[in-house]
Amino acid sequence: MPTVDFPVIYLKETASTNSYLKELRKKEHVTEGTVVCTHEQTAGRGQMGNHWESEPGMNLTFSLILFPINLPVRKQFLLSEMVSLSILEILNEEQAGFSIKWPNDIYYGDRKICGILIENEIEGSHISSTIAGIGLNVNQTTFRSDAPNPVSLKQITGKEYDLPQLLKKLQDKLMHLYAGLGSLQGEDRISKRYEEHLYHGQGIHPFWDENGKFMASIAGVRPEGYLVLKTEEGDIRQYLFKEVSFAPPR
Ligand code: BTN
Repeated sequence: MPTVDFPVIYLKETASTNSYLKELRKKEHVTEGTVVCTHEQTAGRGQMGNHWESEPGMNLTFSLILFPINLPVRKQFLLSEMVSLSILEILNEEQAGFSIKWPNDIYYGDRKICGILIENEIEGSHISSTIAGIGLNVNQTTFRSDAPNPVSLKQITGKEYDLPQLLKKLQDKLMHLYAGLGSLQGEDRISKRYEEHLYHGQGIHPFWDENGKFMASIAGVRPEGYLVLKTEEGDIRQYLFKEVSFAPPR
């Protein structure tokens, strides 16, 4: 894979790399592919207003900016697919067995190694900018007890990782897969690979929705991002994020 040197801004400390990059973009020109990475993130943001915890200097907490101006809003889920897949493919180079828990968590077995927070700025029917925030557990080996099933790369492989080196690999992979958006063939390939690597993508598993527990298999993910489930009884149900979960509500 040919690599280009995309900019990386290293910070000692910031509240949230997503927020930092958003503010930076308002103040000055920022090149597409720029990454902001911080040693310590004091108010890391997760999905649905959750907090993202990460021990200073142990993990990767970074955000990458894209300007997918030619991607129609109706295709915005492709960005989630592309970001998840990039991380999965880099992790699978270290050790096989990672999966993507719909919509965009990265898992090893039943444990979460990476969370992704994608924030799009929409103008009309187009996406003017995307900030993809990534929290990847790398060298941390003890976690606060209230985080749901965390795991780090070091816990899986037993190796200590050089964070800037791993960051460069991820940035290059992200920009490589991003280049595939815009051609139907490239987009189909991303969606297909995303679906192939889904957590609980094979077999029948328990799911929970507003009516409680049910058994189903994953039938696919629609281009708009809906998770399509086929129940044991053969009914097809589709869900948006947070309308269904893979574990009992906490
Ligand atoms: C989640 O699983 O809830 C998503 C977590 C995303 C965390 C990353 S860490 C870097 C970036 N900056 C933030 O404030 N959040 C994301």
